[in-house]
Amino acid sequence: MKSGIFITFEGIDGSGKSTQAKALASSLKKNGIDNILTREPGGSSGAEIIRKLLVEGDPSKWSPETEMLLFTAARRDHLEKTIEPGLREGKIVISDRYVDSTRVYQGVTRGDLRQTVDKLHNLMISKEPDLTFIIDMDPQEALYRGLARDSGEDRFEDFGLEFQLKLRNGFLDLKNSFTERCHIIDGSKTSQQISLEIFNIVNNILND
Ligand code: ADP
Ligand code: TYD
Repeated sequence: MKSGIFITFEGIDGSGKSTQAKALASSLKKNGIDNILTREPGGSSGAEIIRKLLVEGDPSKWSPETEMLLFTAARRDHLEKTIEPGLREGKIVISDRYVDSTRVYQGVTRGDLRQTVDKLHNLMISKEPDLTFIIDMDPQEALYRGLARDSGEDRFEDFGLEFQLKLRNGFLDLKNSFTERCHIIDGSKTSQQISLEIFNIVNNILND
């Protein structure tokens, strides 16, 4: 069985990424497969400090350029302290968001920064996931789900529906650039249906 696999979950806010990342971690554990569940922005103590600067407060407080730098700084710490050590120990590392979120949020929707995001990524991070689940769903429904949580971390949800529509297309478009690792999952199904679909894909890859 393969080990040291890096899996990411991506999609618009409220699409069900966290629910599915947790479900996958717990199914793998039940099957005796060691894994680390982590998230971005955050996932290490330094990156969690940067997270607070990013997700709380006024929607216009950072420019897309500053955001790109902050997300990348947080990612570097996350990579050094959590992702790489986990992979080196042969664990499956599951991250709720990673660089594809920067490609879409800062790269496409908030300024034409996609090439700069890729350059910065190649320079400072240079690690792509082995497998990415893009949870696709209707932004209106996802926005309702996300805001219903009332988490106090709604700076990005507060950009509104049109922003979420652009994001959805940006995420779907990733499949064209990273065909092999990206799997688009229909997020309108029940959580149980989705988690079974995802577990089967992961299981096939681990046993391939
Ligand atoms: P994300 O991490 O993408 O923002 P969450 O996993 O936190 O999304 O889910 C957002 C909300 O929607 C939560 O209240 C969660 O319980 C609910 N939810 C998640 N998946 C589903 C689903 N397949 N059907 C209905 N509700 C869901
Ligand atoms: P998250 O807590 O995953 O939000 P949600 O659970 O609502 O999906 O992420 C916080 C916000 O940060 C989210 O709106 C997406 C945004 N984000 C970026 O803009 N760029 C990035 O590189 C990352 C990782 C997240």
